[in-house]
Amino acid sequence: MGNQLDGRTIFITGSGGVLGSTYVRRMLNEGAKVVATDLEGARADALVEAHGSNPNFGFYHLDVGDEEAVTGIFQKVMADGWQPNVVLNNAAITGEMLMGAGQPFPDFADTTVNDFERTMRTNLTGAFMIARQMDRDIIGKYPASLINVASMYALNGAHHPIYDGMPFKNFSAYGVSKAGIHGLTVWLAGYWAQRGATVNTISPGAVFNGHSEEFQRRVGELIMQNRMAQPDEIADVMLFLASPQAGHMTGQMVNVDGGFSAW
Ligand SMILES: NC(=O)c1ccc[n+]([C@@H]2O[C@H](COP(=O)([O-])OP(=O)(O)OC[C@H]3O[C@@H](n4cnc5c(N)ncnc54)[C@H](O)[C@@H]3O)[C@@H](O)[C@H]2O)c1
Repeated sequence: MGNQLDGRTIFITGSGGVLGSTYVRRMLNEGAKVVATDLEGARADALVEAHGSNPNFGFYHLDVGDEEAVTGIFQKVMADGWQPNVVLNNAAITGEMLMGAGQPFPDFADTTVNDFERTMRTNLTGAFMIARQMDRDIIGKYPASLINVASMYALNGAHHPIYDGMPFKNFSAYGVSKAGIHGLTVWLAGYWAQRGATVNTISPGAVFNGHSEEFQRRVGELIMQNRMAQPDEIADVMLFLASPQAGHMTGQMVNVDGGFSAW
């Protein structure tokens, strides 16, 4: 058990997913208190099952696209005795989630405005609403930091052919929302700098989650290190960004992508 995150209370959205659940486990191991949130469902249940007995762990259902719920969330967790000083805007809809398992993935020409807007609502408007609520409830009252989660597809286009014949594809609104995420980071960095808060973006590359050998080979060819990341490799950098050692960093995008963005 380390202590890199002693004194940190870390609030995480979408924390039941592949990366979110890794951050929760690693942050608890580093001495942080973790306030985890996610939609109702199996992922949330699994997280509570894994950590519910840990006194440093709290869990709240939260849909980041629900304005009323986001507006009340920090007051609610503070009333329960948590004082978040690090916030992770981690929740996102990926293409797979949007379409639901087993449904054919639509081509760009068949993408509905509704699908596009649902993705933007969670990935970007949700992140904005969490940041705005931080501004109202936390910023200026005590030092804090916000970590926004973008993607290797925020500032680089998707390599569409690697998805040929795969059950999932890269979805237009995903990259658009993730580019917006970094816009939010740089806008807020200057806005909050004099009020004791930092804000940065982490951009994970391709993270292994049971992908086929063929997909690993295709995406690996686009990555300098020729392989996908393990979730713990993204968490290693996330732990640093959430720690006091990152105190002089603000407005930055940190790529953790095996060199994908550096060719
Ligand atoms: N896995 C990757 O390869 C990868 C790469 C780059 C960036 N990312 C980003 O990292 C973050 C975490 O990704 P992941 O791989 O763990 O994804 P994931 O799909 O495993 O988890 C996403 C989580 O977000 C939650 N979520 C979805 N809609 C929500 C809403 N409206 N309100 C609250 N929670 C909601 C889901 O329930 C889920 O637990 C995301 O922002 C994702 O875009 C992931």
